[in-house]
Amino acid sequence: MASTADGWAPEVYARFATDRAAPFDDLLRLVSPARRGTLLDLGCGSGALTAKAHVALQVSSTLGLDASPAMLGSAGLSPGVTLERRDIATSLPDARFDRVISNSAFNWIPGHRSYLPRVLGLVAPGGELAVQMPSNPDSAFSRCALEVAGEFKALLDGFSYRSPVETPELYAELLARDARIAESRVGTWYYPQLHESVAGIVAFAQGGLLSAYRARLQPADFERFCAAYRDALERELGAGPVFFAFRRVFLFARLKAQA
Ligand SMILES: C[S@@+](CC[C@H](N)C(=O)[O-])C[C@H]1O[C@@H](n2cnc3c(N)ncnc32)[C@H](O)[C@@H]1O
Repeated sequence: MASTADGWAPEVYARFATDRAAPFDDLLRLVSPARRGTLLDLGCGSGALTAKAHVALQVSSTLGLDASPAMLGSAGLSPGVTLERRDIATSLPDARFDRVISNSAFNWIPGHRSYLPRVLGLVAPGGELAVQMPSNPDSAFSRCALEVAGEFKALLDGFSYRSPVETPELYAELLARDARIAESRVGTWYYPQLHESVAGIVAFAQGGLLSAYRARLQPADFERFCAAYRDALERELGAGPVFFAFRRVFLFARLKAQA
């Protein structure tokens, strides 16, 4: 697993809070309210957006699960919302929920062909699942990080982060073939970023993609990693303003009322 526990830095993640909230708002728009129902948020992070979903979906109780003590530690209290430390790759709850959401977390979980059906098993009859995952495997953002991971191979014990996110077409097929599902949709949205220089991309990546490397490197080595990443990006994209078309994949499924 591309474990990031615990390379997360909530204060770094929060620097781009507005950019990160936009896809979450789009995710929420896919889901219908479940008055007095239950909500599960897989990979809830600080829980700030979990609390927003709790209110928007009008549920009575919400459970957020996350593996990062740092992210959970930055969480505020919110009535009706419980946050719990749990590795969602290996341990999912026994209960079923009226709504299940996951924002920017499945991209850290391997084996989506088997994981997605397991997650669908957490959704109550008639309930809904909505997932959003960044997916930019062919962009300089991802390729340069892989290139630098190669240079730091020894310090990383050979680790490199490779996105487990599948093609939208595959998700469309997996959902269409699942007999439990009444209705499904899969989509791709771009959240364009314009930065004055590649330093902006590095700063954004430090809140997400690079967490897997922060988790495995000493602070001084992580700083060198980030500098090498910036140089690699600059070699490819130039020293001036840069554009990054940040792609995110969305999944939505509503289950049949009766299995
Ligand atoms: C980009 S953050 C998203 C947080 C939150 N959903 C949001 O939108 O603000 C990804 C989160 O996934 C969590 N995560 C990654 N792998 C995980 C795992 N195996 N089990 C539980 N949480 C995990 C990280 O700890 C992190 O908080």
